[in-house]
Amino acid sequence: MASGSWEEFFAVHLPPTDFEDNRSLLKEFCERHDKHGNRIALVTSGGTTVPLEHNTVRFVDNFSAGTRGSASAEYFLEHGYAVIFMHRQKTLEPYTRHFSGQKLLDMLELNERGPNTTITVKPDSVDVLAPVLARYKAAHAAGALLHVAFTTVSEYFWLLRAACECLARLGPRALLYLAAAVSDFYIPKDRVPTHKMQSESGAPVIQLQLVPKMLAPLVSLWVPSAYVVSFKLETDENLLVPKARSALEKYKHKMVVANLLQTRHHRVVLVKPDASQEILLTREDVHAGVDIEASIVNEIVRLHTAHLGGPSAPAAR
Ligand code: PMT
Repeated sequence: MASGSWEEFFAVHLPPTDFEDNRSLLKEFCERHDKHGNRIALVTSGGTTVPLEHNTVRFVDNFSAGTRGSASAEYFLEHGYAVIFMHRQKTLEPYTRHFSGQKLLDMLELNERGPNTTITVKPDSVDVLAPVLARYKAAHAAGALLHVAFTTVSEYFWLLRAACECLARLGPRALLYLAAAVSDFYIPKDRVPTHKMQSESGAPVIQLQLVPKMLAPLVSLWVPSAYVVSFKLETDENLLVPKARSALEKYKHKMVVANLLQTRHHRVVLVKPDASQEILLTREDVHAGVDIEASIVNEIVRLHTAHLGGPSAPAAR
């Protein structure tokens, strides 16, 4: 099962319909923050889909709730980075992630007084909502957070390349944090039926093809000076660190964050060219709602700062 080249992938798959709008947003964001000497973190988050039909009713999905990416984006913002949050449509987002489901509605009180009806935050919810709201407002007031969304693997790659082209101007001040769960397999465009597959024709046989690894052109061509951190997801502990290390040797970027599906919320291994470092949350940390992403981002920011050879990042403006 051979994969085509990355150039072929872009030649065959057309850009998404909202691509030019997103490209303009990315360009403006990068130019503005570059002018101020800010650092920008591109955080990718959520899983990509592979459609089984052009008019898509069914698709193959990649597992990811967007927990890692959405939490990490908040911590990069706290460290003074501007953040491009490139996420799968309808997965968790920074700040709103704290109030998923009915949590937000449960914090509100409805005071019905005819035309003077008001809505207030329940007194015991203010302590929970206020700090998150304050950080959300501050990030938006500073123009420090840009959201761009994808669904399919080809939309993801078009956006990723466009973001890299805009980030290249920042040189080493650009940091890539590739936490999205990206499909390794897809169905070539010319083998995808236009309409919904019909069951009357019997069970379909679907031949998947390998997606070219975009880390290769990303590191060597698109953003050669950026600080690139990729992720490695495995389900077998024995493969985890060896595969992370072999990715690092192959692509020659700065770090692979290795995690197992089963333990990803309380354990990761940061695999660097010269060493590996485990980050482990205790049971008490997990109970207290500590995000492992706080420690992951702390360490990456420390290393990025050392790489830049300067003081820590001033707040993005
Ligand atoms: O969102 P959560 O539920 O919190 O889960 C977080 C996570 C487990 C999804 C996240 O921590 C994680 O591990 N993300 C990376 C998952 C992944 O795609 O792993 P991989 O081993 O298949 O790919 C390794 C790297 O190659 C990735 O950085 C990916 O961006 C890159 N890749 C993958 C496929 C491809 N065709 N080209 C690539 O460049």
